[in-house]
Amino acid sequence: MKLLVIGSGGREHALAWKLLQSPRVSHVFVAPGNGGTATMARSTNLALSDPDALADFVKKEGIALTVVGPEAPLALGVVDTFRAQGLKIFGPTKAAAQLESSKDFAKAFMVRHQIPTAAYQTFTDPIAAHAYIEAQGAPIVVKADGLAAGKGVVVALTSREAHDAVDAMLGDGSLGAAGARVVIEECLLGEEASFIILCDGKNILPLATSQDHKRLQDADQGPNTGGMGAYSPAPVVSAAIHARVMREVITPTIEGMKADGIPFTGFLYAGLMIGDGDDATRPIKVLEFNCRLGDPETQPILMRIRSDFLEVFEHGVAGTLNQSVIDWDPRTALGVVMASANYPSTPRVGDSIAGIPAAQSDCVVFHAGTALKDGVLQTSGGRVLCITALADNVRATQQRAYDVVKSIHFDGAQYRTDIGWRALEKN
Ligand SMILES: Nc1ncnc2c1ncn2[C@@H]1O[C@H](COP(=O)(O)OP(=O)(O)OP(=O)(O)O)[C@@H](O)[C@H]1O
Ligand SMILES: [Mg+2]
Repeated sequence: MKLLVIGSGGREHALAWKLLQSPRVSHVFVAPGNGGTATMARSTNLALSDPDALADFVKKEGIALTVVGPEAPLALGVVDTFRAQGLKIFGPTKAAAQLESSKDFAKAFMVRHQIPTAAYQTFTDPIAAHAYIEAQGAPIVVKADGLAAGKGVVVALTSREAHDAVDAMLGDGSLGAAGARVVIEECLLGEEASFIILCDGKNILPLATSQDHKRLQDADQGPNTGGMGAYSPAPVVSAAIHARVMREVITPTIEGMKADGIPFTGFLYAGLMIGDGDDATRPIKVLEFNCRLGDPETQPILMRIRSDFLEVFEHGVAGTLNQSVIDWDPRTALGVVMASANYPSTPRVGDSIAGIPAAQSDCVVFHAGTALKDGVLQTSGGRVLCITALADNVRATQQRAYDVVKSIHFDGAQYRTDIGWRALEKN
């Protein structure tokens, strides 16, 4: 059967790669895809993005199932468009995707359903926002309500920074409509983890846990990025924490969406802040929801799946996820992102890339910002590659991934040398 994956990042390369391992999948189309999906066997890039044009292609080509990677098409309603035409697609409707596309929607939802999250208020009036910051003091977090491609959150250590963020978003309109409303919330302390599940509207299937590295430089220094690396499993999520997250966050979220009349289908990603203390009592709070898989968390997570991932999606669209099980490789997977020069501010593109080895069972180089230009592989975006390895422990996996990183070359490449440091510290 033929499948369609929507998106162009490392996450989508990994999805296409994993789905092609199913004996029942003959071909995967990736829209728009990247240099990795362009060169992978039985994979074809598709220069389409409009939901109606994609639906037409799916009907014409006889594609059995579509999987959506990024948030933008979900927020545009690609799932609604496909379903209205009787096409199978795994993802949330536009209404359900508001859990990610509106921070204010997500916060109000969590308060309504008693899901633990930072205290907050929402503002459109800058004077009221400034007054709230004065009353609360720093540190404090200012978030654009809408989708801002990872640039909408300011963790302000001083009230000056918080006031400036409000001025930029509500005053100067620096983020456009996405920043015309802001959520200002309490600054939480602790260790972050990504907790991702699949849902078919009622049944919940958790994926393995993971942790990403948002800052550009080693030791979590430098500016925030889309993610410089990730690994799975995340030791901070012990069995006890896992059970609490399911009970305190995931189940009430799925039940709450159902009760509100917008059942959730697709991947639900809860970004968590896990405070200090013992596992039975340490605070677990939701930083954010995403309505999709994380990038780069997907790359290590999918490396650990031993079962046929197509079957999971089939159960996902059929509403039978309660019959689905995933066979997890117990080893550690870890992905190191190589980014282009000047990332994240103004990434340079057009540098040619050399030295990428062929995929192996214990190491795969997933492409993100790459493109084939006249047969030459070039950088075409900020995050270029994610070198993802699988080995018995964190140290060995790091070793395997970094050996491959060092064999790859493009001018201006930036990468962190400490992906997985928190897990190493725990071992
Ligand atoms: N209340 C908070 N307290 C402390 N840090 C926070 C808080 N909210 C967000 N952060 C930090 O800012 C980062 C980005 O915040 P958030 O996840 O809400 O933004 P986002 O733009 O939706 O991110 P993503 O690109 O992962 O979807 C978090 O990963 C966390 O490090
Ligand atoms: Mg988000």
